[in-house]
Amino acid sequence: MATTKSTAKTTKTTTAKKATAAKSTKSTPATRAKTAVKAESNGKKKILFVASECQPFVVTGGLAEVVGSLSKALAATGRYDVRVVVPLYSDIKQEHRAKFTYKGNLYVHLAWRNQYCGIFEYIQDGVTFYFIDNEFYFKRPGCYGYYDDGERFAFFSRAVLEIMPFIDFYPEVMHCHDWQAALAAIYLKTNYCFRPEYQFIRALFTIHNIEYQGRYSLDLLGDLFDIYGSYQHLVEYENCINLMKGAIECCERFSTVSPRYAQEIKDPFYAHGLDPIVRRNEFKLTGILNGIDDIGYSCEHDEHLFANYTPEDFKNKAVCKKELQKMLGLPQKADTPIISMITRLVSHKGLDLVTNVIEEILQDDVQIVILGTGESHFEGFFSSLAGRYPDKLSANIVFNGDLSRKIYSGSDIFLMPSKSEPCGLSQMIACRYGTVPVVRETGGLFDSIKPLVNGYTFTNYNAHDMMYVVRKAVSDYKNKEEWAKLMYRAATTDFSWSHSAKEYEALYLDMLK
Ligand code: GLC
Repeated sequence: MATTKSTAKTTKTTTAKKATAAKSTKSTPATRAKTAVKAESNGKKKILFVASECQPFVVTGGLAEVVGSLSKALAATGRYDVRVVVPLYSDIKQEHRAKFTYKGNLYVHLAWRNQYCGIFEYIQDGVTFYFIDNEFYFKRPGCYGYYDDGERFAFFSRAVLEIMPFIDFYPEVMHCHDWQAALAAIYLKTNYCFRPEYQFIRALFTIHNIEYQGRYSLDLLGDLFDIYGSYQHLVEYENCINLMKGAIECCERFSTVSPRYAQEIKDPFYAHGLDPIVRRNEFKLTGILNGIDDIGYSCEHDEHLFANYTPEDFKNKAVCKKELQKMLGLPQKADTPIISMITRLVSHKGLDLVTNVIEEILQDDVQIVILGTGESHFEGFFSSLAGRYPDKLSANIVFNGDLSRKIYSGSDIFLMPSKSEPCGLSQMIACRYGTVPVVRETGGLFDSIKPLVNGYTFTNYNAHDMMYVVRKAVSDYKNKEEWAKLMYRAATTDFSWSHSAKEYEALYLDMLK
């Protein structure tokens, strides 16, 4: 970050001059708006992704993977000028930063605040990435969990709108992801859309998880979020500020990351209190299943694996399994199925089902491998159980990308019994490695895994229903011939963006009508 700052300082004056010069020679807002329309008819549609994380620069979960891989897939069609804005966190490694170009800086006003905003740019795979630099807000470890997250992402969202004249890019669709980007859609509606340059921008808001809504005290409305009187009703919900609710109200359209989840969030069981808002705005809602970067996740080419293999020839998957068992200190038994879970250890991932029946499952001829971190009671539970069943259970309470790929490839059955799962990427990744998923029929798990086609499913959130299906998979595993066919079907299911990116295209075009 020190490097960032000094570069920013030295170039500040020059950039300021350039900006002034640019201003004086540039057209008026009205002619710029016309130019924007012309640019549209000339060629590519302009899409701006606004998100709090993006692969490969900063990743804490599925959101980053989707923002990274969808933007790339859209750019690859040749029909879109796709740009992505994320904060410049200190967690973004020097190996990435070294490639960024400093574009300049401006000051962002938010209520009584006036904050520095540096802009860095990087172009990769046809996508232009912008990084918003402000050390006060983003020079901290991690992305979230600070007392002032509301202020940090309000600044970020405002900065996204403020940098548009600077980078000379007014998107036709501003695609905002999750509550951290909700205010970009809200500010567009309450303020910026009245300016000629911004009037053609349409906001799409995608919900990756409705559980995290960005709720704050109403006292902060003007002072922190710079929203006043007549707009209060847009963001107010149950006597609080609710940024996700605000974005749903303000956006042109909103979407979720699977069709099933789009249905589910109309129901109080899944909506974490927002179901009345979702139902009221149902006419603007679409569900589109996420894709994955199928080149990045490939049993044939993944360099992290002990050995590579193909869906046509799984021979080397046995090598992956044997080496994994060795690495984790489990007996190297080729015919004992390994059931794996790679997950955040939090309750909505269905861990209470697992903790209830895992000891019964461990009585069977199975090995279980867990990878992930999360709530301390789950971490403690699995660690202590691994102590009692050292030959059957390996609990790896870490987040480790390399090990995750070794587990995806080296195990046989992948368990994902989520209570709710907006989309879920792990079940798709497991399939790519020929590891057969057992999932609960919810959200994207329902949409991506079909019983006996590419996995096993159960309906009710019930530990014994789950155990019954796990046991069915374990018993089917013994039928080598049928199991090989199931592995093949799982590994060849198309989870690439080829289909879903088209659905986003259709949605964008519909919004622009
Ligand atoms: C969130 C959801 C997960 C989804 C991911 C990407 O992390 O919990 O289900 O796959 O976002 O959309």
